Amino acid sequence: MKHYKILAMASMENEKKAEELLDNDSFKYMGTVLLDSKGVGKVMNTSVDALVIVTDVLTSEDTKLLERIYMSKKNLVMILLTGTRDIEILTEAMSCGIGKVLTTDMEQSQIQEEIISEIAKNRSRGTDAGEQKYDSKILSVFGTKGGAGKTTVSVNMAVALQKKGKKVLLIDLDLQFGDVGVFMDIPVYDTISDLVAENDYSLATVNSYLYTHSSGVRVLLAPQSPEFAELVKPTHVNAIIDAVKDSYDYIIFDLGPTLDDCVLQALELSDTVYFIITPEISTLKNAKNCMNVLNTLELSKKVKFILNKDGDSYVKKKDVESTLDEDIELVISSDPKTTIASINRGVPIVIASPKSKVGKEIIRFVNRDEI
Ligand SMILES: Nc1ncnc2c1ncn2[C@@H]1O[C@H](COP(=O)(O)OP(=O)(O)OP(=O)(O)O)[C@@H](O)[C@H]1O
Ligand SMILES: [Mg+2]
Repeated sequence: MKHYKILAMASMENEKKAEELLDNDSFKYMGTVLLDSKGVGKVMNTSVDALVIVTDVLTSEDTKLLERIYMSKKNLVMILLTGTRDIEILTEAMSCGIGKVLTTDMEQSQIQEEIISEIAKNRSRGTDAGEQKYDSKILSVFGTKGGAGKTTVSVNMAVALQKKGKKVLLIDLDLQFGDVGVFMDIPVYDTISDLVAENDYSLATVNSYLYTHSSGVRVLLAPQSPEFAELVKPTHVNAIIDAVKDSYDYIIFDLGPTLDDCVLQALELSDTVYFIITPEISTLKNAKNCMNVLNTLELSKKVKFILNKDGDSYVKKKDVESTLDEDIELVISSDPKTTIASINRGVPIVIASPKSKVGKEIIRFVNRDEI
């Protein structure tokens, strides 16, 4: 099922109406912003497919703001939903790049179909001849404990998905101490902070910063040194995803253990968040606290738990499930020998030791249909 990301732009009194009209399984409603410069800023920094503007009047001030969006968000469709058929508003709408005008007296289902067809039309228009478009899925690998196995899981998941025939981009968003490059034996190469310094988020430029691993996985490396970490802001993460989201089957974020702004942005953008835990009481306590925070941020629904290093302690899967009151999606056995050898050689486990217990567990998980 496709999930089109829709943002509404409406006055406060129209917010509820917009939300109701956009309630559809194919839509991911990203919220409502006001038609003002703050609202425009929000649109610029959000990865969305369509902006639905709900209003009966468009002043020249409004059209100037909308034109700014039209000029800088090439992949975004702007749709006006209005209660009036006044010719003046139609003229204003056309002048600022609004691609479609719908009226509020139309059936809700018809409005939704029109929005979907407008997005589809825009997507195919943006496709160069012969260039395939992907309906990408964004996965985050996260966990509050350092050393739990986030990088082990994200690297091996990425390579296993690529081996399955998928097109994968792995982004190392552990901005201070990211070590995906070590795990995959990647030589010194451009990083995310170099890309941010260039400040150009066209697909061609972003692609030029990606390293192609021998497995075929594309990698955007973390900064070479921790002091460059602060150059990377959530808006940059958004811009990068905006550029690449139609070019991959899977985009995977390897995250650090803290809930900083960029991590939150990655979680926000993700379809699924794999939360890595280990069988230790302290880790479970942290995970529980973190879930409370994610719950408040309305991010907890996309979390799936992976229990790594199983067998290291008397705490078993069922204990973890009852402590967290959550199901464990995948259990990965403890195997220090295989995992350390893989890191030291810079060859992911699913390539170096696909027949090892850990290798088989990850490959089996990735080969399921529903990932
Ligand atoms: N299933 C496993 N069995 C045994 N050791 C493991 C397993 N998975 C990972 N490890 C080991 O745990 C250590 C940390 O792994 P990894 O770097 O993947 O964790 P991380 O969560 O990414 O850490 P950080 O928070 O520092 O980014 C490594 O030495 C790795 O070999
Ligand atoms: Mg890591």
